[in-house]
Amino acid sequence: MMEKSFVMMKPDTVQRRLMGKVLSRFEEKGLQIIAVKMMQISEELAKEHYGEHSEKPFFKDLVEYITSSAVLAMVIQGDDSISLIRKMVGATNPKEADLGTIRGDFALDMGRNIIHASDSPDSAKREISLFFKESEICDYDMPDQDIIYE
Ligand code: RTP
Ligand code: MG
Repeated sequence: MMEKSFVMMKPDTVQRRLMGKVLSRFEEKGLQIIAVKMMQISEELAKEHYGEHSEKPFFKDLVEYITSSAVLAMVIQGDDSISLIRKMVGATNPKEADLGTIRGDFALDMGRNIIHASDSPDSAKREISLFFKESEICDYDMPDQDIIYE
């Protein structure tokens, strides 16, 4: 099923100039980037986005990290893209993430794990509407759609 996922390159990805490499992974897979926004997120938005973790001991550090510098927020579309992108991103702890995944290849530390991706259709819906207006999400044809999909 065609799905939209919310993906965000965290401040370390931007600062380490890895945005292009990470974006290429999604493009090369055949996924479609339908919205992109660079922004420095507010404490309020960070707390709302990661609301499910508000009682966790790492919450304060997580909010500090994610608001520390610019991020690149995105919406990525594709067949079963939500679970697919989670696989491409890899385990939360980069030390446990398989090589070949984004975290496995580019990160070393749990608290600097370079990328966020929605973990379910419900979170994707919630997160996309938190970061993007409907008018900021682009609807355009991929001319190779019929080559990528059967
Ligand atoms: P994300 O939401 O950022 O895509 O990461 P995730 O689903 O793989 O992991 P999640 O459990 O949602 O945790 C959100 C972020 O909090 C930090 N974290 N630190 N010290 C800890 O035990 C710990 N656990 C989680 C990570 O930066 C994680 O990405
Ligand atoms: Mg999560």
